[in-house]
Amino acid sequence: MKYLATRRPGIVGLAVVLALTIVQVARADEPIVLKFSHVVAPDAPKGKAALFFKELAEKYTNGRVKVEVYPNSSLYKDKEELEALQLGSVQLLAPSISKFSPLGVKEFDIFDLPFLLSDEARARQMMSSPMMADLNKKLENKGISPLAYWDNGAHDYTANKPLIMPEDFRGMKMRIQGGKVQDAVTRELGAIPQIVAFGELYQALQTGVVDGEDNVPTNILTQRFYEVQKHLTISHHGRLTYALVANKTFWNSLPEDVRGQLDRAVKETTEFFNATAAKDNTDAIEKIRASGKTEIHVLTDAEKKAWISKLMPVHTEMQSRFGKDFIERIYKASGFTPPQS
Ligand code: LMR
Repeated sequence: MKYLATRRPGIVGLAVVLALTIVQVARADEPIVLKFSHVVAPDAPKGKAALFFKELAEKYTNGRVKVEVYPNSSLYKDKEELEALQLGSVQLLAPSISKFSPLGVKEFDIFDLPFLLSDEARARQMMSSPMMADLNKKLENKGISPLAYWDNGAHDYTANKPLIMPEDFRGMKMRIQGGKVQDAVTRELGAIPQIVAFGELYQALQTGVVDGEDNVPTNILTQRFYEVQKHLTISHHGRLTYALVANKTFWNSLPEDVRGQLDRAVKETTEFFNATAAKDNTDAIEKIRASGKTEIHVLTDAEKKAWISKLMPVHTEMQSRFGKDFIERIYKASGFTPPQS
């Protein structure tokens, strides 16, 4: 009042002061918007986890945070989403770690070494190993904060012809996510690797831009790849791991109490993911089988052996990229023993 009495702003001035005050109050009340973009279907494990996180984050922060989830590459595709994260156009992603090499973080490709992370126990052991601290630092240096790792199970191959023995791949155009290791694996099989964004994969398979791909059953089911691929081989040659990552500047600028609640939501979402993904992938195989559109072949022990001996040279070849010592440290951290031939 003293201010008004001495400066005599008049009715118009008073209205401006009041309006500004209201705007400021409204701003303070506005929720912090967190855009979470991803490339899979809402009913795939990552899609479900994104919605689960949204529910928890909004509840635990009493609505101070609003999470907008954009599934199915509706906001950004594979490569663009990482660029958007670095620019701060989106705040949260959960990409496959096989997609990090375009950022200049090639070390994550190592997890694509064939049969390295052959089961859930090994994948979890690796992702919770102290070695991940060094790799996390590499992401931090790119403006990306890793919040959690989610294991979405083993990769299987699909194509329009049966892929039973390594020779069956000869001359096939196979889609890869990216990275030098996936490229080398495909070439070792005698096939031609092609990077295709996940959001464009159905069409690429349908039109024959590529002949086949490898993925987890929940993606093959929820993206309906099984409609355009007559054969699926349960090969478990690779692993799909996601990193839940945030824009570092955004994450660090959150009020401490808000970040604490979001950390809690992340932790519980990780537990949710770990408890549901394996079952969803098992169920997906049964649903694909029941569709009658795709024939499923489980590699026999002898066939698996042939795949392993065909693909183990990729481990040796990649020593020049990652260093023998680094690869051996990864073997140790994940509990992998190279098979004796
Ligand atoms: C793929 O590109 O095949 C997968 O990584 C997609 C995903 O995020 O599950």
